[in-house]
Amino acid sequence: TTNQQWGGRFSEPVDAFVARFTASVEFDQRMAKQDIQGSIAHGKMLASVGVLTEEECDQIIQGLTEIEEEIARGEFEWSIELEDVHMNIEARLTQKIGITGKKLHTGRSRNDQVATDIRLYMRDEVDFLLDEVTRLQQGILSLAEKEADTIMPGFTHLQTAQPVTFGHHLMAWYEMMQRDYERLMDCRKRINILPLGAAALAGTTYPIDRNMTAELLGFERPTYNSLDSVSDRDFAIEFTSAASIIMMHMSRWAEEMVMWASAQFNFIYLPDRFCTGSSIMPQKKNPDVPELVRGKTGRVYGHLMGLLTLMKSQCLAYNKDNQEDKEPLFDTVDTLKGSLRAFADMIPAIESRKEHMYEAARRGFSTATDLADYLVGQGVAFRDAHEVVGKAVGYGVKEGKDLSEMTLEELQAFGDMIKSDVFDVLTLEGSVAARDHIGGTAPAQVLAAVARAKTELEAR
Ligand code: ARG
Repeated sequence: TTNQQWGGRFSEPVDAFVARFTASVEFDQRMAKQDIQGSIAHGKMLASVGVLTEEECDQIIQGLTEIEEEIARGEFEWSIELEDVHMNIEARLTQKIGITGKKLHTGRSRNDQVATDIRLYMRDEVDFLLDEVTRLQQGILSLAEKEADTIMPGFTHLQTAQPVTFGHHLMAWYEMMQRDYERLMDCRKRINILPLGAAALAGTTYPIDRNMTAELLGFERPTYNSLDSVSDRDFAIEFTSAASIIMMHMSRWAEEMVMWASAQFNFIYLPDRFCTGSSIMPQKKNPDVPELVRGKTGRVYGHLMGLLTLMKSQCLAYNKDNQEDKEPLFDTVDTLKGSLRAFADMIPAIESRKEHMYEAARRGFSTATDLADYLVGQGVAFRDAHEVVGKAVGYGVKEGKDLSEMTLEELQAFGDMIKSDVFDVLTLEGSVAARDHIGGTAPAQVLAAVARAKTELEAR
């Protein structure tokens, strides 16, 4: 037999391999809930404009509700012959309620149906992801608050630059996530528009009420062009792009955590439950969670490039190519969910090795800029001050002494305007406390940033 959903014009059944090759049901059954949600709204709308009777509509809703339960119980039998989630559910509906089931597809095509399903699915997932981002930000805040005055070396070029507070460093991570949250929110706006009603590509002859369907499904409004409605996958690309940026951020934190947890840095302690051991080296404790998040960043970038390439050069309107949008999209969602969850659980549990961070900051002449600024305060031009301090550092490298470990006489050999109060600025505490303005590393500013962030999160 030919396919019962569209077999009328065919003279032979579809080749068995082609049926498997073109089927998407193995992965698009993930959208079953949204497919049913969309069909119920479509049915209600058809009844309200008189295309279906109220009785037919009730039968459809009843049948679809039962099918949703069958799926939830794992009893639904998915069939490759029925190609995709849409035709599987519709065929089962007809099996259950007879001819009325065949009326559901009136004024609709799988082209606008699938576009609607993906948008409903993406909206649910983005809402979940927004909550996970918030949870991760809360985790960062709780650690940053504890570490507001913990001193560590700040780096540029991975060379010790100036002392910073660990809390300040963590609040940099928070800012990245804040932008990521905003990007997801922005992407959600363009997801939340209803394509249903576009039918195959040109619209439909039935007197449909698209505003009603949009309202029933919680969409902002219907789309304005039927051709665009069935062929637009911008929202998937935007989402994958926002996801790529989130993964990029997390890969940077991952890299820092991996370095910091090494014996060479020894800045942080990662609880054992986030690490694994080695099958050969008994001493090993490996930071697998951050490493894996760093690694998974690659596949999300791959999906972004895959989707961009999928859409490249596609003429209007729907093409079967578009069926290829789902696997990269679903894997992006899964990867992002897993990575956010891992970090939201792990980051607040990090413990700092304060003494090691402090020692590392002291070793790298990290207060050299403070000494230069001190000389400027004594009337020396900044460029000359830079030169004087450079010479003092050169001496320190040779003698194995940090600036704060030199005697006043030693320092005065480089500039006689240096007085005993210089030691106030040469200490690490003095250095961080002096950067006391919005966005600066002073402990007071870290606490202010945490407070500001808390207000931000509470307003969500
Ligand atoms: N499974 C298809 C997809 O994911 C549904 C739409 C099919 N439409 C069609 N005209 N073949 O894109």
